[in-house]
Amino acid sequence: MFKIGSIGAGGRGRLCENAHRPDQGFELAAICDPNPRVIADYRQRYGDQLRVARTYQELLDQDDLDIVFITTPDYLHEEQAVAALERGKVVYLEKPMAITIAGCDRILAAAQRHGAGLYVGHNMRFFPVIQKMKQWIDEGRIGEVQAIWCRHFIDYGGDAYFKDWHSEQRYATGLLLQKGAHDIDVIHYLAGSYTQRTVGMGKLSVYNQVQDRRRPDEAGSARFVQSHWPPLKQKKLSPIIDVEDHTMMLMQLANGIQASYCQCHYTPDSMRNYTIIGTEGRIENDGDFSHETNWASVRLWNRRCGPASRQGTLVEAVPPIQGSHGGADPQIIDDFLAFAQTGQRTGATPLDARMSVAAGYQATLSLRQGNQPLDVPPPSAGLATWSGLGPSRRPEEHQRQSPNH
Ligand SMILES: NC(=O)c1ccc[n+]([C@@H]2O[C@H](COP(=O)([O-])OP(=O)(O)OC[C@H]3O[C@@H](n4cnc5c(N)ncnc54)[C@H](O)[C@@H]3O)[C@@H](O)[C@H]2O)c1
Repeated sequence: MFKIGSIGAGGRGRLCENAHRPDQGFELAAICDPNPRVIADYRQRYGDQLRVARTYQELLDQDDLDIVFITTPDYLHEEQAVAALERGKVVYLEKPMAITIAGCDRILAAAQRHGAGLYVGHNMRFFPVIQKMKQWIDEGRIGEVQAIWCRHFIDYGGDAYFKDWHSEQRYATGLLLQKGAHDIDVIHYLAGSYTQRTVGMGKLSVYNQVQDRRRPDEAGSARFVQSHWPPLKQKKLSPIIDVEDHTMMLMQLANGIQASYCQCHYTPDSMRNYTIIGTEGRIENDGDFSHETNWASVRLWNRRCGPASRQGTLVEAVPPIQGSHGGADPQIIDDFLAFAQTGQRTGATPLDARMSVAAGYQATLSLRQGNQPLDVPPPSAGLATWSGLGPSRRPEEHQRQSPNH
């Protein structure tokens, strides 16, 4: 039986419950979380045999734990992941890998030094609409890809990102990195290449106007509530807000593809809208994941059709799959558990995760430093030759080959 420990078991940490599969040889054995309500809830459902550690170090000291989930706020990832890898645990680390490029490289170096298994939770790769678009690209349906644009509308921005730690640079760097790490990775995945140079632009212009703030000693509630509208009427926002609520980045990828990503935290609706343009067509998604009554779809335009062509030449609806994040969460856990057993994965590699942070970090620096274009540094030579960065690629191949494997 593989024994699992979870650091940060509330919030996103509930993901570890997807991995509790005693019939398949995986058992949730220990948790660590400072929130007593989280502990009480797990206790009620898993009984007294579930061990509760007071600190993450105490959890890592439990030698019988093979696997550790790290689903804590971003600013804790670096320290906790390095410690877990040093203890030889197989680690599921939530995205973003860390809040700085140096933090990512420290985690990679620890994984390399200790030969430990590192898996970063880029679950968006498992969204069925993303898989469909990737399939059509790989089938050559739009010829050679030249450009990828992603617009990201976030109606729950005021609830999720401006009431707790997410609202501060010291805890998140910025939301272009924090939230954008998903989409930057998807852009890299669809393009089959990484960002080499980026320009960022953005501002904080809505949530800084909201006067209603929680006290610094009061816990922030990131609960999504439909009636919290309009954004300027939000209540109990963080006392400190210094991250942008609207951001844009341009990306020059190493294989020549150019991309853009725009993120806004005060729209009335939520969706990621991707457009991929090739030499023989265009792909676009409508909806990012399917609900029982509202299916997402992917459209293809591959002949010239003029202005009255919203439908595309082909539309494929994407049926719903059971599970959170449109079915992506159970799938990424299947993939992670296979990785824990065999070392093989289909999801993002540690290098993919690092490169999404690196691009988001540099774009954030760029937007804060007068929109200067900035290069995205590759990992050091010592790290770049480490095979654990990705199962099948070497650094010299990164320029040409797909982050898909
Ligand atoms: N992949 C996804 O779809 C997805 C979705 C949501 C969040 N996330 C990621 O998950 C992580 C957690 O996000 P969240 O919104 O759940 O955050 P959160 O603030 O709700 O924290 C998660 C849990 O960590 C606990 N925690 C805080 N400090 C801790 C510490 N020092 N030691 C142990 N536990 C601690 C909290 O009590 C909480 O139960 C972030 O990195 C975020 O980016 C990923």
